[in-house]
Amino acid sequence: MSSFVPVSDIREPTDFGDRDFPGALVNVTNVCNLSCRHCFVFRADNPNKPKDKMDDATMLAQLERLRDKHHIRSMLFMGGEPMIRKNLVLQAMPLFQQSSIVTNGTYGIPSVPGHLVTVSLDGPKAMNDPIRGEGVFEKVREAVFARDPNDGTTVMLQMTVTRENAPGIEAFVEEVKDWPVTGIAFTFYVPSVDDETNLGWPDLRDRDRVIDQVIAVKRKHPDRVKSNIAALELMKSDRCLEATGAHGETCGLRRMLPLYMGEGGNFERTFCCYGNNVDCTRCGAYAVFNGYHHRMAGTPEDA
Ligand SMILES: C[S@@+](CC[C@H](N)C(=O)[O-])C[C@H]1O[C@@H](n2cnc3c(N)ncnc32)[C@H](O)[C@@H]1O
Ligand code: SF4
Ligand code: SF4
Repeated sequence: MSSFVPVSDIREPTDFGDRDFPGALVNVTNVCNLSCRHCFVFRADNPNKPKDKMDDATMLAQLERLRDKHHIRSMLFMGGEPMIRKNLVLQAMPLFQQSSIVTNGTYGIPSVPGHLVTVSLDGPKAMNDPIRGEGVFEKVREAVFARDPNDGTTVMLQMTVTRENAPGIEAFVEEVKDWPVTGIAFTFYVPSVDDETNLGWPDLRDRDRVIDQVIAVKRKHPDRVKSNIAALELMKSDRCLEATGAHGETCGLRRMLPLYMGEGGNFERTFCCYGNNVDCTRCGAYAVFNGYHHRMAGTPEDA
């Protein structure tokens, strides 16, 4: 570990009890260079306000201690924008059996053989840029084409579908289907309980029709679109509460340990990986439904 802080000077991580957490995620920074309209990080806070931070040596040591205490096998590196702390992330990834990064792609795509990098884009260029910022689509395209496609990194493009960009689902797939990436994934908006944006679906039956559009692009491009139709069917209004519960009671993602950066530069645990104050009854997190599908079917989640 490249650190000038003696290990004995590293403060103990926050006490999260004695449970095992096979999976965890860490917001390595709250800071982000973009300010996407749907972002749950921005809705909870202004992440670019100066806040106590955790230096690299402390974060590496705390992640290692939490790994050993809770038997964490997989870690998802998130933010804010995790690539703002690229050196830290690249040092921390080997600490876990499985590591992955979710990035906005504007700082380049890291080469992490054997690991997963999810790159967020929220529709075709004409829809992405009003959400993610002018010029962002092109910047990400250049970064994707600049990487060595044979470096052993799994790279997925991910569109977060909202009521605003839903009309762009098919155009998005047409625009990116020949890019040198492993595949294209879709997840849906997760609102807060007091959501006042127009990004969600007040009547979930309207979301059902959008889910059908994702199912249609999956059928059209089965090898490029990585979504699982059975999982998408479970997200529909007549079934979704089974996988989530009204307050996350049945949600598989709540078995993960979400490590957010809190006051005093210490980790704090949020209700789930989408933060606090979330509306589980309208949750669109694909992983929740895919996980539930595999639990019901008794199949491994990456199947
Ligand atoms: C919070 S971002 C952090 C990593 C990086 N900055 C990025 O944009 O990929 C992680 C993912 O969460 C998605 N996201 C943000 N707010 C969301 C929300 N309210 N509901 C569902 N997904 C959301 C983003 O689109 C992105 O794909
Ligand atoms: S790039 Fe990621 S963290 Fe930054 S505002 Fe957009 S969704 Fe949020
Ligand atoms: S918002 Fe979604 S991911 Fe979070 S606890 Fe509720 S159902 Fe689970």
